[in-house]
Order: sequence, then structure tokens, then C-alpha cells
Amino acid sequence: TSNQMWGGRFADGPDAIMEAINASIGFDQRLARQDIDGSRAHAQMLGDTGILSGSDAKAIREGLLTVLSEIEGGTFQFSTALEDIHMNVEARLRELIGEPAGRLHTGRSRNDQVALDFRMWVRDQCDAATQGITALMHALLAQAEAGADWVMPGFTHLQTAQPVTWGHHMMAYVEMLSRDRARFGDARRRMNLSPLGAAALAGTSFPIDRHATAKALGFDAPAANSLDAVADRDFALEFLAASSITAMHLSRFAEELVIWSSAQFRFVTLSDRFSTGSSIMPQKKNPDAAELIRAKIGRILGANVALLTVMKGLPLTYSKDMQEDKEQTFDAADALMLSLAAMTGMVSDMNANQDALRAAAASGFSTATDLADWLVRVLGLPFREAHHITGRLVALAEAENCDLPDLTLDQMRSVHDGITESVYDVLTVEASVASRTSYGGTAPSEVRKQIAAWKDRL
Ligand code: ARG
Repeated sequence: TSNQMWGGRFADGPDAIMEAINASIGFDQRLARQDIDGSRAHAQMLGDTGILSGSDAKAIREGLLTVLSEIEGGTFQFSTALEDIHMNVEARLRELIGEPAGRLHTGRSRNDQVALDFRMWVRDQCDAATQGITALMHALLAQAEAGADWVMPGFTHLQTAQPVTWGHHMMAYVEMLSRDRARFGDARRRMNLSPLGAAALAGTSFPIDRHATAKALGFDAPAANSLDAVADRDFALEFLAASSITAMHLSRFAEELVIWSSAQFRFVTLSDRFSTGSSIMPQKKNPDAAELIRAKIGRILGANVALLTVMKGLPLTYSKDMQEDKEQTFDAADALMLSLAAMTGMVSDMNANQDALRAAAASGFSTATDLADWLVRVLGLPFREAHHITGRLVALAEAENCDLPDLTLDQMRSVHDGITESVYDVLTVEASVASRTSYGGTAPSEVRKQIAAWKDRL
């Protein structure tokens, strides 16, 4: 038998395979609440403008609430033959209230309906991402506050570079995450225009009030071009782009946690609650949560690439290709929210091993730059010459199998006879970090200023 929603011109029903490739109800049932909120606002507007009678509008609005409670209560029977969430809801409404259900779709199409539902869903996810990121920023701030002056090695090329502070390192992620948070805020602001009432693509001849439905559904205004309103998926792409960048940041931090928690580094101890064991090696405590967070960028960026690829080359306006927008976006959003929650838990629970951090900071000639700077400041040497002399001192220490502060003054003076006792003052890791007082530098005094500023802003 032909379809009850659009089967007027069809003599035959669809092949089972056609039904299988066409149906989206398996995943778009996640849009049930948005679909019903949108339909209720549409029905209200149809009643208010006199397009529907007040009693029909009321019957529709009440019936839709019953449908929603059935869906949320898990008693709703979803049907693949009814393709998607929009038709499943409407068909059930017809069973519940009869003829008025058929009037709901006046001045509307599934094209603006799905654009609306999905946009509202993505809008909620922007808010969820903002919350998840904020929670992680709080956890990082707490770590930074506890260890504002704990010295650790700073790396470039994963080679020892200069001593930095634990607090400074934590605050670097606070900065990255604040940009991520702002990206979700920007995307949300830009997407907050309602497509409802664009109808199939051209608008409608019914005297609808798009401003009223936009307002009722929390939008700033209706989208200004009906073709764009049904053809646009930028809102999902922007969400996925912001998610990809956030996931990249989480992946970098996760990688650091994997390295730091290894027996060779021992910079941090992850809690039992966020670690797993091995079924064969009894000593193992694995950073699985960090590894999984490191990997989630694969799905999230994958979704971003997938949707861009779906959208490229589509002529205006709606094509069924666009039904492929949802599953990937759902999956990416789930992966991002879970990653944020797991990272927040891990960061809140983890313990930095101050002694291991300090010992690592003091190895690898990490204060060589401080020595070169001392030669410039105290002896007035050009930096290039100071760099060369320091290089020779590092080579000497390496040959003596010791660190820079372990060289005797005589040994130092064998390389440059102007060197005096006061050079030792700049060779400790504590002196090194304390001296980095330029704005945004790693000195504990500077880090504490940044922490205080962020505590005010969050
Ligand atoms: N299930 C469809 C989707 O997700 C709804 C829109 C269908 N519109 C249409 N003209 N077939 O995109």
C-alpha cells in the first residue's frame, strides 16, 4: 500500500530496500523533543493568526504533549515505514486526535521542520559543550592554584627546554579551552535564526507569523531567506569545527597525561577511578581514559569532514543527501561531551609528583639559557657570544657527567675567565622560573595573577 503521508500519486508501496535506505527514524528519534516543541509553536501560531481554529490548535498542542510523554516513557512504537521522526509523530497524533492532526502541516514542510529540529538540537549541544568546557577549566584552575610554583621541565621538540611551573602549564590549557568555549558561543549566536516557515523552499501563501514562532522557540529572528533556511547546514558544520578544535586540544593534553603517567616520567599519578589494569600484568595501571580521549578526535573530525563532503556540490535547496547530517553529528557530540567529562574527572583526581617534576626540571641543562642571559647582563657580552660560551660549558658538563650548577668556578673560568661566583644564583630551577616575570611568563608571581584573573572571569 502507498504511503499515508505522500502516497496520493503512488499506486505501489516502496521496496523493502528502498525503505531501509530511506528511513531515518533509527537515529532521528533523538530529535523527538525538538520536533514536538517546534510543532507546538507552529500550531500555536496557526491558531493565533486564524489559519486554524482555536480548538484545532489546542487539540494539536495537547495531543503533541501526549505523544511526547509516550516517547519519553518508552511506550511509543516507532515505525520504519513512516520514515522519520516527523511522520512518526504526526501519524501518532492522528491516532490520538483524528482529523485536526492533518491540519498541523499547513504552511510548513518537512524541509523547514527538519532544519528547525536539528538546529535546536545543535544549539543545545553548544550549551552542553560550553558547560563541559567550563567544568574542565575549573578543574585546571584548581590544579594551577595548588602548584603555581611547582617547577617542571618545559619542552620543545619533547626535549628539555627551560624550567616552567606546573601552574603555568595548566593555565596554558585554560587559555586554549577559553577560545574553544568562545567558538561554541559564536557558533550558537550565528545559528540562532529560525528556519520554520521557510516551508518546502519558497515560503508560503498562508499568512503565517515567522517572528512569533522564532520568538517562541528562543531564536533571535527568523532566517531571512527561505532557500537558505532549508538548504543550510552551516550551524552543524560550525559546531563540528569547534568540536574538532576542542577535541584536538583534549587530545594533546591526553597525550601529555599518557607520557607523564609512565614509569619513566612519573610526573603525575592518575587516580584508580580513571585508570584500568591489565588481565596478565599485575603491576599495570593504564591511562585508558586519556588514550580514548586522545583518539576521539578521529570520530569528531571525521564527522566534520563527512558532513562537509556531503554538503559540497549539493544544488540548492534540500536534497535527501542532507539526511546524512545527523548520525555523524550525534556521534561527534556524544564523543565530545564524554571526553570533556572524562578529562574533567581525570584532572580533578590526578596528583602531580612534585619531586619528580623538580628533578626532571633540573636535568638536561635546563638553565643554560639563564647562564647565557647572565653572561649578557653581567659581563655585557653579545648574546651570540654568550650562547657560544654557554654551549661550551654544557659540553664540559656533559663530559664531566654532571649538570651546569655542579661545575666548579675554576672549570667555568677555564671557558671564560670573567665568570664569577654570582653565576650560581641563576642556575637553580627556582631562580630560573622566578626570573621569568615578563607578562604571561612562567614566574609564579605572574602565574598567580593569571589564575586570579581567570577565577574572576569564570
Ligand atoms: N528525514 C528527513 C531528513 O532527515 C526529513 C526531511 C525530509 N524532506 C524531504 N523532502 N524528503 O532530512
